[in-house]
Amino acid sequence: MSTVLVAYATRRGSTEEIAEWIGDTLRIAGNTVDVRPAGDVPDIDGYDAVVLGSALYVRRWCRDARRFARRHRRALARRRVWLFSSGPLDHTADDGGLPPVRGVRRLSDRFGAEAVTFGGALRADVRGWIARNIAKDNGGDFRDRVQIRQWAGKIAADLAVVAAR
Ligand SMILES: Cc1cc2nc3c(=O)[nH]c(=O)nc-3n(C[C@H](O)[C@H](O)[C@H](O)COP(=O)(O)O)c2cc1C
Repeated sequence: MSTVLVAYATRRGSTEEIAEWIGDTLRIAGNTVDVRPAGDVPDIDGYDAVVLGSALYVRRWCRDARRFARRHRRALARRRVWLFSSGPLDHTADDGGLPPVRGVRRLSDRFGAEAVTFGGALRADVRGWIARNIAKDNGGDFRDRVQIRQWAGKIAADLAVVAAR
């Protein structure tokens, strides 16, 4: 079994929960998993594989996730990497086919990593008037736990194949 890092960046916490769901699924499959904020990971030497994800704000990942990808680019290039984004406040991400934003597509190309976009979440009582205005018309929780766990299950299956070689 593999040692896996799930690193995430969030502003309001919903992406952290996604990272935890992914981590749970990988653990249940027998992997050793750390789920940590991307800004709190000094090095990735101890990990066989990395799942990196972030919330989307104005079509970009949060800064800590972008920094993580830059800072660890050499180490990431030598590992199996999966990328996820969370954002859309509607059902457009439900079928898993939503293309990644440009910056994430670039990372996906660089690391040969699959990149998926999941629905996001925004509470009606969010702080900040821009966010509250968005939440007024588009608030809600569009994260699909089944979809997220299925995606993590595929990662677990891929890791198991490599570990068995
Ligand atoms: C100001 C603002 C800008 C946003 N921009 C995007 C965006 O460009 N694309 C997208 O899919 N979602 C966007 N969202 C939705 C967030 O990505 C979504 O609420 C996400 O789940 C937030 O994750 P977090 O709770 O981990 O911070 C935006 C939300 C806010 C408040």
